[in-house]
Amino acid sequence: MRVVLATSNAGKLAEVLAIVGPAADVAALEALAGIELPPEDGDTYEENALVKGRAVTRAAGVPALADDSGLEVDALGGAPGVRSSRYAGPACDPVANNDKLLRELDGVPARARGARFVCVAALVIPDGREWLARGEVEGRIADGSRGTGGFGYDPLFIPAGYECTFAEMTSEEKNEISHRTRAFQAIKTFLEEI
Ligand code: IMP
Repeated sequence: MRVVLATSNAGKLAEVLAIVGPAADVAALEALAGIELPPEDGDTYEENALVKGRAVTRAAGVPALADDSGLEVDALGGAPGVRSSRYAGPACDPVANNDKLLRELDGVPARARGARFVCVAALVIPDGREWLARGEVEGRIADGSRGTGGFGYDPLFIPAGYECTFAEMTSEEKNEISHRTRAFQAIKTFLEEI
């Protein structure tokens, strides 16, 4: 089955291809010229993922995969959370986001730097059926930026049980345990059923 992934983030596309690839023919959003994604201004990951998936399915008449994800930091009451991409402003600049996060956690000791990545994935198909799945990975925020792999907050996130950041892992190592893998593994079983 051909499904379109409702994202223009190349990092996400590569990760989702690696997870769902064998169960479906995943095309990038660019394959559908002229489709614009709605703003991600919902209050929940679920709402944002469904809005994106529905927009692509409605515009193109094809099954769509979408996700919304974020980083929740305990010492910041769960921020930046659903607003992770715009944490340092509307430019969605990952370097500025990471700098702001490190500033906010300045002086916070390692034991209080707990955090988790959350991903909610949605599958929306043209007959109106919809599926949602959530994946999470626990960890903590490093004292500084480390590594060059991945994207977004990866240089700051140390998953539980590891000493390296997501950005210091290979993409295969990150994909073994990531929030996105956990959410899209569940979506993959739905794809295999329909
Ligand atoms: P969205 O799901 O496109 O709204 O992205 C949410 C924000 O969380 C983006 O700024 C990403 O950089 C960040 N984010 C989500 N997943 C990851 C990840 O796997 N690694 C690093 N940052 C992530």
